[in-house]
Amino acid sequence: MQIVKEGDEHVDTRYPRLFSPISIGKLELKNRIVKTAAQTYFFESGERRFGGIAKGFYGAVARGGPGLIICETPAMEAPYKETGDRRYRVDDDRFLPDIEALAAEVHQHDCRLFLQFYHRGPWGGVYAVDRVRMSASGVTVQSPFDVYGEEPPQAMTLTQIEEVVEAFVDGAARAARGGVDGIEINAADDHLLPTFLSRFWNKRDDRYGPQSMESRARIVVDIVQGIKQRVGPDFPVQVRMNAIEMGAGEEGLTVGEGQELAMLLEAVGVDSLHVKSHWMGMHQGSYNQEVLFYPEPHIPLSEFPRELDWSGKGAGAQLPLAALIRQVVSIPIMTVGVLDADLGEKALQEGKADLIGINRRFFADPDWARKVREDRLDDIQPCTHCGNCNANYNKPRQCRINACFGTDQYDLAPLETRKRVLVVGGGPAGMQAARIAALRGHEVRLWDKGRYLGGATPLANMVKGFEVDELHEFIAFFRHQVKKVGVKVELGREFDLATLDHIKPDAVVLALGGTPVLPDVPGLDGKNVIKTSDLYGTLRFYLRLFGPRRLRELTRFWMPVGQKVVIIGGAIQGCQLGEFLTKRGRQVTIVETGDELGVGLVPERKTRLFYWFDKKGVPLLSGVQLVEITGEGLAIITQDGEPRFLEADNVIPTLPFDPNREMEEGVRTRVPEVYSIGDCDSPATIPEATAAGWRVGNLL
Ligand SMILES: Cc1cc2nc3c(=O)[nH]c(=O)nc-3n(C[C@H](O)[C@H](O)[C@H](O)COP(=O)(O)OP(=O)(O)OC[C@H]3O[C@@H](n4cnc5c(N)ncnc54)[C@H](O)[C@@H]3O)c2cc1C
Ligand SMILES: Cc1cc2nc3c(=O)[nH]c(=O)nc-3n(C[C@H](O)[C@H](O)[C@H](O)COP(=O)(O)O)c2cc1C
Ligand code: SF4
Repeated sequence: MQIVKEGDEHVDTRYPRLFSPISIGKLELKNRIVKTAAQTYFFESGERRFGGIAKGFYGAVARGGPGLIICETPAMEAPYKETGDRRYRVDDDRFLPDIEALAAEVHQHDCRLFLQFYHRGPWGGVYAVDRVRMSASGVTVQSPFDVYGEEPPQAMTLTQIEEVVEAFVDGAARAARGGVDGIEINAADDHLLPTFLSRFWNKRDDRYGPQSMESRARIVVDIVQGIKQRVGPDFPVQVRMNAIEMGAGEEGLTVGEGQELAMLLEAVGVDSLHVKSHWMGMHQGSYNQEVLFYPEPHIPLSEFPRELDWSGKGAGAQLPLAALIRQVVSIPIMTVGVLDADLGEKALQEGKADLIGINRRFFADPDWARKVREDRLDDIQPCTHCGNCNANYNKPRQCRINACFGTDQYDLAPLETRKRVLVVGGGPAGMQAARIAALRGHEVRLWDKGRYLGGATPLANMVKGFEVDELHEFIAFFRHQVKKVGVKVELGREFDLATLDHIKPDAVVLALGGTPVLPDVPGLDGKNVIKTSDLYGTLRFYLRLFGPRRLRELTRFWMPVGQKVVIIGGAIQGCQLGEFLTKRGRQVTIVETGDELGVGLVPERKTRLFYWFDKKGVPLLSGVQLVEITGEGLAIITQDGEPRFLEADNVIPTLPFDPNREMEEGVRTRVPEVYSIGDCDSPATIPEATAAGWRVGNLL
């Protein structure tokens, strides 16, 4: 530990560089941790945009200790009034009160505030509900993983360029009047501004064309200089830039060009740079790099661009780029991407960057910076890179572990009466309810009939693997915390109604998990059918012996599943089982009686998984009718009405669970306060279970 000066305070920390002050232009930050911009859809859509959800989140993060928050972008594309768009606005003085309220909320915690501005430019789909897609030129990217439309966007006219520049400058001036400390111009990724910077996109023949870096960067420079002229030279402007564009062949921006751009931006008065990379056609994989490894890299890892460091499977991948840009400029360099306190501190110590950008760790735990500073790493709700925060569009985003995220309640409800609470079921719902209830001061017992805590999650972990989604850290956090906050954990305790006569709790929380469901098809009793209830039961036994990681390894050598497998059920569990078995060399077919496959999967992961299934030759058949399971496989009628026989050594029905209401009524007749939560109440996925535990933990 080392004593360092953080702002006006002296603090004792293992991360002295991270918590040392720094200036962007003339603006001093108390430390080098920056919450990077991320669209949360936490603002309201009506006339008053800064409501409880945005206030809750940005206030909580500011209180949690970063030196700077870069707030997500307002709507920067005309028409600004998109239907149901949950972004704030800076295009009119009538929105000033929102900006002022946001700034006041952040500043009260001694944290600085920038707004990020970006224009969605060529993006299509959910991002272009009411507006024209536009870009430097009418070029589009054809990619199975992306957000563009099929049709090329409109090439911008000079008038449109002027309008966009003015919108950015005017918005910055208004933000400054509202008390905001600076602006980040997002000229990175694949929105509007990078289409000018990129030779791939930019095919213009006017002064904004690709002839030189000066002309490519002109639109960004116009914005920067416009802001400096209108607001004043000391008003900080940071630019987020791609230091390299991958996947665009010869037309991609090279690191040398990235360095040239950085020097040019420094010369026109930019105060700091936010450096990253972009992989053309990989929208999400470009900003959440671990995604590129799910379920496997789309090209061999040996063919991944060498300019980035892939040794951490996405973690810190961009650090070498930041270092290369830092060599040619003297303004502060920030970088981002699956960084943590150790990686951040090391990068600062080694001179690779000056500011450390963190996003999802603040989603998962707004107190991240403070807990790091206090060396309370075990108390941090870990971001486990599950991708759930990317699932929603135009409605508040959610986090698998942080149930407060997307709500206006970040504090525990005060305790009115201390109660004896029995929580039954040690899955995510039960562990969360028990943890929150105990934190609030209740006397809590947590029972599980199994021999470990985690419910279905260690099983899910074993099936999903450890490469991308770090579910094991989620499980470890809850296992540790329930004990730390004083919950009395009793494993191997099967709950039944008779128990209530002995222990007489004031409240019972039933978090028993769901009830397995079998499909309605003849032949289910055949020897080749592996029923989920039996499979999960057996696996739980082995999980107890070996844990998910070793058990997954052991399945490389032995697994009682034949070579050809048909999975009945194409929702999340069936798809993940299909992925696992395919990785273990089985020939898998997934059939689904409904129309939709992949229900419960995070959309972008689903896109990648289904692309991978296609490459691996895994048929996904939806809308089928199940006819009969025989010793040789499964007879179906396809969506087109064709009878078909799917040969299989094993048929595995993996249908979503039903609720489990067996106990509830009986408990209600004996205990005054009863809740049923998680899969037990309405089967879904982990985020819903964790959120239900938070709600009930606070209600008790
Ligand atoms: C193979 C598989 C893969 C999955 N993959 C994902 C995924 O990728 N992402 C995702 O979000 N979700 C996934 N899920 C779903 C997720 O695991 C569940 O939604 C979540 O675990 C539900 O949590 P829960 O606390 O409600 O119930 P559970 O996790 O099922 O826990 C219920 C607990 O109650 C205990 N219990 C039951 N009856 C009694 C009793 N009478 N007395 C004492 N204890 C009892 C059980 O032993 C169990 O530990 C997956 C599920 C499976 C099976
Ligand atoms: C849900 C979500 C939305 C994001 N939106 C933006 C955005 O609007 N602007 C931006 O510059 N980056 C955005 N990002 C990227 C993050 O700022 C950050 O670069 C990325 O999450 C990697 O950092 P992390 O690994 O610490 O999360 C977003 C990321 C996520 C997960
Ligand atoms: S939803 Fe998942 S990936 Fe997103 S912040 Fe939460 S834990 Fe991390």
